[in-house]
Amino acid sequence: MVTSTRRARRSRAQDIKTLLILGASGDLTGRLLLPGLASLVSAGRAPGLTLVGAGTEPWTPSKWQRRLAKALPLDAGEEASAHWKELMATSQYRQVDVTAPGALAGLLASLDGPVAVFFALPPRISQLACESLTPEEVPFGTRLVLEKPFGSDAASARELNGTLRRLVPEEHIHRVDHFLGKSTVLNIIGMRFANRFFEPLWNRDNVAEVEIAFEEDLALEGRAGYYDSAGALRDMIQSHLLQVMALMAMEPPATLGERDLRDGIATVLRASRVATPFRRNTRRARYTAGRIGGRKVPDYVAEEGVHPERETETFAEVRVEINNTRWAGVPFILRSGKAMGTRRKEAVVRFRPLAHLPAGFSGTDQPDELRIGFGPDTLSIGLDVTSAGNGFELSRAELTTELHSSALLPYGEVLDGVLHGDPLLSVRADVAEDCWRIVDPVLSAWSHGRVPLEDYPAGSQGPVTEN
Ligand code: BG6
Repeated sequence: MVTSTRRARRSRAQDIKTLLILGASGDLTGRLLLPGLASLVSAGRAPGLTLVGAGTEPWTPSKWQRRLAKALPLDAGEEASAHWKELMATSQYRQVDVTAPGALAGLLASLDGPVAVFFALPPRISQLACESLTPEEVPFGTRLVLEKPFGSDAASARELNGTLRRLVPEEHIHRVDHFLGKSTVLNIIGMRFANRFFEPLWNRDNVAEVEIAFEEDLALEGRAGYYDSAGALRDMIQSHLLQVMALMAMEPPATLGERDLRDGIATVLRASRVATPFRRNTRRARYTAGRIGGRKVPDYVAEEGVHPERETETFAEVRVEINNTRWAGVPFILRSGKAMGTRRKEAVVRFRPLAHLPAGFSGTDQPDELRIGFGPDTLSIGLDVTSAGNGFELSRAELTTELHSSALLPYGEVLDGVLHGDPLLSVRADVAEDCWRIVDPVLSAWSHGRVPLEDYPAGSQGPVTEN
């Protein structure tokens, strides 16, 4: 008998032959997945790959081809277009209800393997589709690719993990997070661990707080079907920002291998929680009508498909504590908001104030700050320096550099990992459950109204009331 570990090891070198996208007629596939795949294929990174889309909509072959054609940028070069057209020529759309008994098994059996199955579906449907399969119906080498949110709380994430584990080994399960394109992971790790002078300062003795903010000027964008039952805490913090926090806070890994990195991430998250009282340590708000740039944005509750009684937050903030020797007492503030006046996507490390500033200096004396901006990734260090015209006066200097950015779109990087069997960008089973363990008590307190729902006009800097 071949054990699952041996099976996984043997098939690791094998490239995926067919990418099967479930939910192919959906918004995620059109908006992010196919453009990401197009960036990968047109870079020549997926030769010979067959793409099959499956959805419940009765799409004609030409409708599917039109969707594929739209995924490639208009300014793509000749070679890039040739690669993508080659994939389009063999790509098919199949109308299937993957929750129907035997449907997904039949589909898998008809494809050239190994197959990567991308579940671009709501979590409950993904769970039902997986439950419809028996291990014997999952061909050797199949990889299962799951989108966030992975489950909707710790219990459902555990259940989904159990279902997946019965079908394929953990190495073949990719819980993807496009937010952590490989560049961002490596940019944070590179900044922290390839420099001598950060590491001695990177601890509770020198750091006052770390803020990880993802504030976007995008509003609901017609995504009520998903977003109105998710909200900002599940949509951004539970999934993406806790991962960034873990990279910012982890211990130095011995290697860049997935085991070392993912162990490091898991260890930090296991030590993390949001402490009570939640009225002080968390915040939720919802946008009202306003303007962003010249654009009029309606009240969130007036958007089509929104149920006001759900009290879905479009802005969330939590103070996470990491209870270990390095970070005890340092708040990690994670915040995310939609329909904000300014886009701010960054991690900021604020250092403690000086013990003593020599008397005689005038001007600003602000704590040093280090910022990592996301998309495009940048690194800035804010320091007090003497002014050009006056050596006794301090002013602020920002030293900024751009960090590596990939030619691939974030979903291209994610799919690259899936097709080539690299689990680095996949969230491990225990980590997926731990992220829910951290936010579940907050979600429960919010749903019981224990933290007031504030509001903020679209286009503003978020809620202003002090906690
Ligand atoms: C997604 C969220 O995961 O990330 C969206 O569901 C959010 O609500 C998006 O707008 C932001 O991603 P990007 O592409 O701007 O980095």
